[in-house]
Amino acid sequence: MDPTKKNLNPFRPIPRIEIENMRGYTAPLEGRRDMLRLDFNENTLGPSPKVIKALKDIPNNHISIYPEYCGLKEAVIENLTKRGLAAPIEASQIGLFNGVDAAINAIFHSYGEKGKKMLTTNPTFGYYTPCAQMQGMEIIAIPYEGTKFNFPLEKIKAELINQSPGILIICNPNNPTGTILSAKKILEIAEMSPKTLIVVDELYEAFLGESALPNADFQKTPNLLILRSLAKTAGLAGLRFGFTIGNEEVVNRIGRVTGPYDINSFAVTAAFAALEDQEYIDHYVDQVLDARDWIQEQLLINDVKHHLQGGNYFLIWPKRNATEIENELRKEGILIRSMKGKDLIGASLRISIGTKTQMQKFWNVFMSLDKT
Ligand SMILES: Cc1ncc(COP(=O)(O)O)c(C=O)c1O
Repeated sequence: MDPTKKNLNPFRPIPRIEIENMRGYTAPLEGRRDMLRLDFNENTLGPSPKVIKALKDIPNNHISIYPEYCGLKEAVIENLTKRGLAAPIEASQIGLFNGVDAAINAIFHSYGEKGKKMLTTNPTFGYYTPCAQMQGMEIIAIPYEGTKFNFPLEKIKAELINQSPGILIICNPNNPTGTILSAKKILEIAEMSPKTLIVVDELYEAFLGESALPNADFQKTPNLLILRSLAKTAGLAGLRFGFTIGNEEVVNRIGRVTGPYDINSFAVTAAFAALEDQEYIDHYVDQVLDARDWIQEQLLINDVKHHLQGGNYFLIWPKRNATEIENELRKEGILIRSMKGKDLIGASLRISIGTKTQMQKFWNVFMSLDKT
């Protein structure tokens, strides 16, 4: 029985039925700081030294006064433009959030409601489901296909036609399977379903090198919304900064449900410095891609069952019980994530990719433990 339901006073405040019936999103966040963290797909080296300097230099009045956001959307646009855009983007097409999680919550708050459907894939990032549940939405989750976890394109298209969902959310590349859907196919989907908000969570696009953004025209497909974050590549996970890129009207409606000061002054300062130092991010991504090649080679040479596609993470099916391996690695100071409870991949472990040296450390310990 839910312990929060014991001995309830009948004269108590009652939450919405949707909240009463759902589970909150939780993650094993505590006690991680001194470990090799290959469990949350974070940047494993930390932010640019320029970010650290900017944070150290924060004057008192940035702390005692509410945050100012002037110029931040323009800095986002400048950074995106350097990396290539199909059409120029205005500040009104950028939404700023306290991490992409806050953006996802706001999207569902403004475009989700009881009687509407949320279409997505399975397994995927865990926060979409509670956000849809909060709004009382029906969830349609289409499984990835085959042993390579291919994107279920035909089924998603059929659901778009038959079910007219209010929101389709595609994680691309998908966390945790790494599955990739091409930008061309994403734009085709957006064109065929103008009434569905097509949300593309591109948190890991830098590790893929492909994005829907360079091809997107938000006048032609105003229902397309792209999510980006500085958590994983720029190393700002602890400060929380994410943004959305889309059509002006959509961005405006989603912005209506946020508070006026949701992003704090430290995150603003760090975001400015990180966006200016794209070279640092590119260098980190290059190191991860090198390490990804190295670990893939080891997996193949040693015939370890695995799945590695897009993103800075991959899945391994150990010979021994996955949770036992997870616990034993933790004792050695290495954190990874068991996928227990996830459909299709419940017996696997998800391992984030850091630098080659970090992956070598993981690999040596993993190989010494995973013996039958
Ligand atoms: C696919 C995906 N989307 C969103 C998030 C959350 O991003 P942020 O840290 O910007 O809130 C994560 C974090 O793990 C993620 O994997």
